[in-house]
Amino acid sequence: MRENETILVTEDLTKEFAGFIAVSGVNLRVARGSIHALIGPNGAGKTTCFNLLTKFLKPTRGRILYKGRDITALAPADVARLGLVRSFQISAVFPHLTVIENVRIALQRARGGSFDFWRSRKVLDVYDGRARELIDDVGLSAFADLPAVELPYGRKRALEIATTLALDPEMLLLDEPTAGMGHEDIDRISHLIKRVAADRTVLMVEHNLSVVSNLSDCITVLTRGRVLAEGPYAEVAVNPEVREAYMGTGHG
Ligand SMILES: Nc1ncnc2c1ncn2[C@@H]1O[C@H](COP(=O)(O)OP(=O)(O)O)[C@@H](O)[C@H]1O
Ligand SMILES: [Mg+2]
Repeated sequence: MRENETILVTEDLTKEFAGFIAVSGVNLRVARGSIHALIGPNGAGKTTCFNLLTKFLKPTRGRILYKGRDITALAPADVARLGLVRSFQISAVFPHLTVIENVRIALQRARGGSFDFWRSRKVLDVYDGRARELIDDVGLSAFADLPAVELPYGRKRALEIATTLALDPEMLLLDEPTAGMGHEDIDRISHLIKRVAADRTVLMVEHNLSVVSNLSDCITVLTRGRVLAEGPYAEVAVNPEVREAYMGTGHG
């Protein structure tokens, strides 16, 4: 891990919606190999920022550099091909295929295989070994042959992460990985993110501050589209402006 290297940079990243500035002049620097969290109150611009990074939205102004390369104008698929991958949403998992079938398909896609999985069961078997490894990594071995639709919520998110890891990303973008989870699932996903980040960079939008404090090397706090503070949790958490804007006195 080359910690002092920056893998992702944004310069003056700005997004306006019909005159409303949702993200305003954001300069981010994400260190390679780190877990970096983007936090802030509702409406701060986190999701918009995330969508800009994953190319689901076009910035009004500013640049995004990944490994020194300007990716501002690239399409999401091209960015993914460079190793910057967004965790798929649940809807991207095929509900009636089993856990292992979902991961095998993701592996096949990663290898540029065609998408006609229904008639290439044999081809998919080639990926079986790697798929089982990934399923094991995310703690889903016991669920391998269960249709995705039958998984409990937290396990579905783990499956999403497995299908994302199938693309072997160098940098992983996670949008609220623990949203809607109970304590047990939160613990499990937290451990998983930690493990996954051992040889990767992770940037996540996350609401749960205990998850953020446990996992993050660096935190960027957004309010009203702007960066309010940045640094390790211990520093950011005692910043009076952050406490006022985000955590509220007596909370964080
Ligand atoms: N497509 C859109 N059109 C208009 N306004 C939007 C759009 N998306 C987000 N916004 C506004 O931008 C602000 C930031 O939203 P968002 O990025 O979702 O914040 P967060 O994820 O931090 O809660 C909010 O005020 C929201 O209403
Ligand atoms: Mg949001």
